[in-house]
Amino acid sequence: MSPRAPFIVIEGLDRSGKSTQCTTLINRLEAAGIPAKLLKFPDRTTTIGQMIDAYLKSQSELDDHLIHLLFSANRWELASTIERLLREGTVVVCDRYAFSGIAFSASKGLPFEWCRAPDVSLPAPDLTLFLDISPEAAMARGGYGEERYEKREMQESVRRIFVRLAEEMNGEGMGDSRSAWITVDASQTMDDVSEAMWAHVQPMIGGTHRPIGRLWA
Ligand code: TMP
Ligand code: MG
Repeated sequence: MSPRAPFIVIEGLDRSGKSTQCTTLINRLEAAGIPAKLLKFPDRTTTIGQMIDAYLKSQSELDDHLIHLLFSANRWELASTIERLLREGTVVVCDRYAFSGIAFSASKGLPFEWCRAPDVSLPAPDLTLFLDISPEAAMARGGYGEERYEKREMQESVRRIFVRLAEEMNGEGMGDSRSAWITVDASQTMDDVSEAMWAHVQPMIGGTHRPIGRLWA
């Protein structure tokens, strides 16, 4: 049986350079002759994604629980596509995933375990690269935009929860949701960040015979 491709998630605060780095990574994979697909959550193109988009732009108000479930549902919409791509040998790079879901909703005061529950058993990334930057440094890059959550206090809380998730993902007892979590210093130059990311991705590009894991299952 031929190996399946790896599933790579990029996480980070708003303005951590995530989207740029995702594109650079895809280009690098393709230049190495590896089929690769970039996915982004929220995926604002689906019906659910359009509800999320309106909420983020403050064009609608939704209960905190409800928007959390929509973000999760938006991942489940793509779950089978992710699995198919991996089995076909296409590396999947995801700009944000379930970790953002937990970090942002828990920052609004929803219980951590409640936030995790709807994402349990989604396809688990083989590698999560967390682009870590202080909210001050992120703001210094031109400030935040107009969207909900792009505020200093929110970003500080989100970062604390990402750090908690990092400890947990690398800790004992993760069962079948095996997933390496690597923190990358995103305050470096763009080139240094992409080099640091590539150093972790490059060893995986040959694929793996490990079954696709299930998050927190
Ligand atoms: P974006 O800036 O990457 O398009 O993401 C939009 C915002 O949505 C960003 O502030 C993070 C937030 N978010 C959640 O609150 N929950 C989620 O599950 C995801 C994927 C993003
Ligand atoms: Mg944003």
